[in-house]
Amino acid sequence: MSHASGPGPCWLLLTLGMGFVSGSGCPTSCQCQTQEVICLGAGLSEYPRDLPLSTRWLTLAHNSLTFLPALDLGLLSDLVSLDCSHNRLREVLDYTFVGVSRLLYLDLSCNVLAVVAPGAFSPLAGLLQLNLSHNLQLRALPRLAFANASALQLLDLRHTGLHSLDHAALSGLPTLRTLYLSGNPWRCNCSLLDFTIYLLGAHLSHPDAQEATCAEPAELVGWPLAQAGHPLRYMCLTHLDVQDYLFLLFIGFCIFAGGTVAAWLTGMCAVLSQTARRRAEDTEDEDEHGQHLQGAGRVLHSRVQAGQDGFPQLV
Ligand SMILES: *[C@@H]1O[C@H](CO)[C@@H](O)[C@H](O)[C@H]1NC(C)=O
Ligand SMILES: *[C@@H]1O[C@H](CO)[C@@H](O)[C@H](O)[C@H]1NC(C)=O
Ligand SMILES: *[C@@H]1O[C@H](CO)[C@@H](O)[C@H](O)[C@H]1NC(C)=O
Repeated sequence: MSHASGPGPCWLLLTLGMGFVSGSGCPTSCQCQTQEVICLGAGLSEYPRDLPLSTRWLTLAHNSLTFLPALDLGLLSDLVSLDCSHNRLREVLDYTFVGVSRLLYLDLSCNVLAVVAPGAFSPLAGLLQLNLSHNLQLRALPRLAFANASALQLLDLRHTGLHSLDHAALSGLPTLRTLYLSGNPWRCNCSLLDFTIYLLGAHLSHPDAQEATCAEPAELVGWPLAQAGHPLRYMCLTHLDVQDYLFLLFIGFCIFAGGTVAAWLTGMCAVLSQTARRRAEDTEDEDEHGQHLQGAGRVLHSRVQAGQDGFPQLV
């Protein structure tokens, strides 16, 4: 009895201690292979604490995790792939992935994500694939959500609550090739213009393009989002609002009023100058009356002289 129980607790303590220090254990409900831990449908409601530190592939899918503790996750500094789909994650914080900067594949699909912090994916400079699909509570993504995750090649945003997206969120991803956008209530108004124009020019592959359509407004319902740049460009860049029409009306009135005033001024000037000229002519006429008589006398005089010489002379 004493023989059997003597080394028992010591062994347990040692194992626990080693497990804590080196993280070499394997959580009871998970399967651990070389550098791979699979806790698939293991009934976990919390992140498993005693994962081998050398883990590179971690599957936590189909559990009830509500959050990922950044400190514990950060112990797995070699982690390459994290599948946390089908859980109950509500948010991704700025520092959630700070410790796992070598991540290449991240699957957060089928959760209840409502908040993605602005710098959440920034530490993941090598990330190739990100799956955020089936997060119906996700209504918006921050402008800089993928800033610095500039190696991203595939982004799955299917079946979320996204109705709009800032084009700046994606335009900094030079290697993005595949983008899934279907199943979202896209609101194709002028706020989405830049994003749809980006889609027109980005040459991305949209495997689900047929289903990625506008849900609003009425005139664009069912229009493929990847092509919505054409009608939106027309509607938003040439569209005039009520205040535009009022402004044009005002400008028109100003031109009309200006023209009227100018015409009136011109008329006044013409009348005034005419009057002035007539008055001047009148006085001239009076002055010239005498001169005319003198002139006539001179002409007569010269005629007389011309008659004398036999040659007419002009005076
Ligand atoms: C993203 O996750 C959903 C649900 O888990 C899955 O159906 C889909 O195939 C995944 N997307 C990609 C591109 O693998
Ligand atoms: C991206 O990285 C640069 C330099 O590494 C850093 O200055 C910047 O703050 C990062 N951006 C975000 C949104 O984290
Ligand atoms: C377009 O829709 C978005 C999302 O609902 C809204 O925030 C924005 O104000 C709308 N923009 C215009 C120009 O109507």
